[in-house]
Amino acid sequence: MNGFGCQTEARRRFLRMLISSPLFAGSHFLGSPLTNLLANNVVTGGKTDSVLDTIEQSDSVIASPDEALNVMDFEPAARKALPPAHFGYLATGVDDDGTVRANTEGYSRIQIRPRRLVDVEKVDMSVRLFGTTWSSPIVICPISDQKAFHAEGDIAVARAARAKDHLQIISTVATSSIEEVTAARGAPVWQQLYPTNVWEVGRAIVKRAEKAGSPAIVFTVDLQEGSNRETLFRAEQADKRKCTACHQSAYTGYARPKPGGASGGFAEFVARNPMFEGLDVSKVTSFRPIPMDWTFVKRLRDTVSVKLLIKGIVTREDAQIAVEHGVDGLIVSNHGGRAEETLRPTIESLREVVEGVEGKIPVLVDGGIRRGTDVFKALALGATAVGIGRPEAWGLAAFGQPGVEAVLEMLRRELRTIMRQAGTTSVERITRSYVVTRVS
Ligand SMILES: Cc1cc2nc3c(=O)[nH]c(=O)nc-3n(C[C@H](O)[C@H](O)[C@H](O)COP(=O)(O)O)c2cc1C
Repeated sequence: MNGFGCQTEARRRFLRMLISSPLFAGSHFLGSPLTNLLANNVVTGGKTDSVLDTIEQSDSVIASPDEALNVMDFEPAARKALPPAHFGYLATGVDDDGTVRANTEGYSRIQIRPRRLVDVEKVDMSVRLFGTTWSSPIVICPISDQKAFHAEGDIAVARAARAKDHLQIISTVATSSIEEVTAARGAPVWQQLYPTNVWEVGRAIVKRAEKAGSPAIVFTVDLQEGSNRETLFRAEQADKRKCTACHQSAYTGYARPKPGGASGGFAEFVARNPMFEGLDVSKVTSFRPIPMDWTFVKRLRDTVSVKLLIKGIVTREDAQIAVEHGVDGLIVSNHGGRAEETLRPTIESLREVVEGVEGKIPVLVDGGIRRGTDVFKALALGATAVGIGRPEAWGLAAFGQPGVEAVLEMLRRELRTIMRQAGTTSVERITRSYVVTRVS
């Protein structure tokens, strides 16, 4: 999907639109969703073309993974590589993107209390999850439509996960099948599940994943339909290219196909995804079960013969109910701020979820993790492991597999550094006493 002929012109049109927008000059500019599309660009006003030149030639856009100093450096590189609508899909939150920002900002309210005079010559970052040891607690989150970011999509991510030995969770709407991803990873991956409104379809995805060796199914529960992804919608408006020039579907908002249209029906859109291949999806009208409630979890629990995790739990109450339903693990997540505008960082939800499960099952957390110190803080507050979403996709969009590898390597290096600095020689030793927090 990279290397679109019309990309530069589309980007120019897009930026012209942004710059001529009243938001750009207005006092609300810094709080607007558009900051996600312009973040890190040096915009001093003046002529559109000089702004474009700044962006095109900006020293802040890295030309290779080696030039990156931190994972944030990959974001402008991804923006540069992608057409506006695709970058908008990756960047978007909902409403004002406040929850996207809150997720990262939440970490800045937690301080680290390093201990001194500890021998840190050997630092062990490994974690055990359901009997498997991973060399780091950093997990690759499920991301849909990854071929919209790079032609090799999930396969490039799997190769990077293999090279760096990371656990990978693939999306139900991955652009490669679980068999292909597993082969590229060289080991089983976890399968994220959108079960759809048709039980047999969801069940078939579960059974296919189990057959492919997946040791865990991750049921995502935080997404109803209709999330107001304004940054995406603006980017789509600004991107005047015809979608069908590059790919078949002309649906808008990725998972929001226009119902009933000749090329935009939901079932038709679903059928094109590899994990739905061979299934009768003619009655699929939604990615979520209807109703999506605890009765469904019970039914799923009875069907899934491997580990079952729920992704998207953010409260103590739901954590307790999940344990009662025999769920094996939780991922504290708000879908990277893409579901609803709660303004509550996941790192603040982590504590109550950890309390809710009372140590009975592992709890992972994702959302806003951009630094090794963020990983450290999440572990200190009780996470067994952490997930990263956008940073992996930035690396992928900008440079393919080497970009993803660089992102993973960078976070590992930063985690190792803070573990040494704080005097924690293993993940188990990173306890609450290593942080001071004002989170509730
Ligand atoms: C472009 C994009 C697509 C996503 N697709 C899925 C998905 O298919 N299933 C899912 O459970 N979560 C999905 N997520 C959410 C991520 O798995 C993860 O929860 C989130 O990205 C973590 O926040 P971060 O991006 O700040 O690291 C997606 C996130 C992004 C950015």
